This record gives sequence, structure tokens and C-alpha cells, in this order.
Amino acid sequence: MFEPSTITISRSALRNNVAFIKERLGSARLCGVVKGNAYGHGLERFVELALAEGVDYFGVYSADEAWIVRQRVTARPDLFIMGMVEGDGLAWAVEQGVEFCVHDRDRLEQAIGQAKKLGTKARIHIEVETGMHRTGFAVEELEAAIPLIQSEREHLEVVGLFTHFAGAESRSNHKRVIGQMARFERARKLFEASGLRVRYAHQACSAAVMNYPETIGPVARVGIMQYGFWSNAETWLRYSLTNKTGVDPLRRVIGWRSRVMAITEVEAGGLVGYGNSAMAPEKMRIAVVPVGYAHGFDRGLSNMGRVLIRGRQARVTGIVNMNAISVDVSAIPGVEKGDEVVLIGAQGDQAITVASFGEMSEQLNYELLTRLPRNIPRILID
Ligand SMILES: Cc1ncc(COP(=O)(O)O)c(C=O)c1O
Repeated sequence: MFEPSTITISRSALRNNVAFIKERLGSARLCGVVKGNAYGHGLERFVELALAEGVDYFGVYSADEAWIVRQRVTARPDLFIMGMVEGDGLAWAVEQGVEFCVHDRDRLEQAIGQAKKLGTKARIHIEVETGMHRTGFAVEELEAAIPLIQSEREHLEVVGLFTHFAGAESRSNHKRVIGQMARFERARKLFEASGLRVRYAHQACSAAVMNYPETIGPVARVGIMQYGFWSNAETWLRYSLTNKTGVDPLRRVIGWRSRVMAITEVEAGGLVGYGNSAMAPEKMRIAVVPVGYAHGFDRGLSNMGRVLIRGRQARVTGIVNMNAISVDVSAIPGVEKGDEVVLIGAQGDQAITVASFGEMSEQLNYELLTRLPRNIPRILID
């Protein structure tokens, strides 16, 4: 391996998180959301690992992601394409029995057409628009589509009727979420009153599992919590206030490490890196780490981000470069070329979490994780 940094994926952390989520879900089935390259963890590797931990159902965003799982993972877990699938991708999904989202009449007709051509049933989840205003059938549109679904029953398996919440992580969205739940219930009743059977009526994501457990139903589509993160700080706070243990039950699955590539000394008054954003107030010792914004280390962390070296925090000094950062190691004795640098994870009794990283750069956990480039090797650890 010649790469300047590596990402570690912890099996025991995932095992811990899956157990926590399953306990919350009770008898509901966990659909592990692995879109966005499994939130940056590496799609096929993560699916394999999660399968070994008892997750047998996965939600991806698009047909290309489902294809990767089918091609590269030996087992054949149930797959649900929650977003984009069209044309050849849709034909492939029908042929493979991969479940997919039907969010409008056009896709419904495509699904029926392909199923007829292949002499099989398309396995669909009908999305209901309940207030997010992104995709899905409004309740009235669903009513209008029901006769078509009824007449094409032999070409359709309605696996799910679902919706997605537009902010279950924050109390400030409470009214909106409650409205979504009510609209979803109307849609569900309408659907069932027409005599159509649906196996799963599902709505909960991570935040809803924690903040609106009444929405868990027969399936919950859980992404961020699998990886050991809370949807946001408020969700963690609400959990910890009710549980009063102060102990985070989730464990981060990901870690990110590099090494010191060079050490340089700067005299007082010297400028560090491009431009003039960092001047040494006194003699400084700088370690250069071969990770930059091209590797997902956000430029917003210039003069702000922290890494760990020899169990101590070192601050980013100057602008984050495309492929390197400079960090101040003046107060850390003995730092040498080749020393381990922790960008995310623990070293000694210190830790850099994605959350703190995110707060410094105003990036959400979700964004920061999914931006980690695919070509950084993911290494499995226990
Ligand atoms: C339709 C849908 N369901 C579930 C999820 C999972 O959300 P989370 O990672 O917050 O659990 C997402 C993610 O954005 C989604 O788009």
C-alpha cells in the first residue's frame, strides 16, 4: 500500500451499534442504509461486515450502488433502491428482484412495462409525499394510481409504502413531522381500503427511531447510527437526558490515520504555507502531514482543525493544501518523521471525532463522511 493515509473500519464497533439499534427496533426489520459509499465507509466492505453482524437488508440510493453490491458481495441480501433508477438500471432491478422506489406515475408505468417484458413481478416501494416536497405521490395522486396498481397486480409486488421525514432530528420541526405522520397514515389507510396488500409501511430513519419511536413500524431505514453517529447533537442530548448515564452507547466504526512526512522549523515572524494566514508568533516546529482537501480534509479547517500526534492535539497551521496540512507540534516533544497522525479516531486518551471535526468546519457528519475519497484504503480492524 502506497497511499498517504488509511481508513480503519471496526468490526466490534459495528457489532455494538447493530445490537443497540436492534434493541430499539424490537421486532422491526433493520434496513441498513448504505448509500453514499456506505456513508464513506466503503460499500462492499461495509455490506459484507454488516451481513456478518446480522443485517440482511440494505437501502442504497441508486441502481449503480445496488449493482456494486450484487456484483461484489457473494451473499444476496435484500436490496432496496431508495432513489434513482431508470431505463436499463430499472430493467436490471426488475430482473434481479431488487426492490426499488416508485415515486411517480412514470416510474410506475416503467416498472409494469419491464415486469411484463420479463414475465415477472417488479418489487416496488411506493413513496408517499407527506411534507418533504422532494419526491413521492401526494395522497390524491396515490388515490388516482391505485386502479392501475390493482389492474397490474400480477406484475407488481408492493413490498413497501414509505415516506421520509424532513427533519426528525430537531424539535423545531415537530409540527412538520407530526403532519407527515398524519398524511402517511391517510395514505396507508387509503391503500389498504382499496384491498391492496403492502408488506411494509415504513417511515423511520435514525432520528425517528430515537425521537419518534412510534414511527418504527415493521421496518426502519437506519443509516448514520449504524456507523456510530447521532443524527445531530440534539438527538444525542435528548437520549442522554432521558437515560441519565452520560455514556454514549454508539461507537464510531471509522478511523482515519496518516504519518508525519516532514518536520520543519519556522523562526518567529515566519509565514507558514500559502499566503499570509499563519505567522509564527515565536519559533515553531511544524509537522507536515500528507493529507489535504483532495483527500476529504476540508479547507474550512485551515488554521482550525486538530489532529493527534503522540497522544496530543496538534493544530492545523496555515491553509489546508490540496494534498497536505501543516500542524503545530512545538509543544509536543520528540515528534519525528513517520510518527502516526490520527485525523479521526483515538490515540492515547485523546480522540478526534467526526462530530468535532464537523463542528470546526461546519460540515455535517453526513457530508464529511461521504466525501472521504473512495481510493483511501479501508482496513478492517477488530
Ligand atoms: C429515504 C431515506 N431513508 C433513510 C435514510 C437514512 O437516514 P439516517 O442516516 O439519518 O438514518 C435516508 C438518508 O438520508 C434516506 O434518504
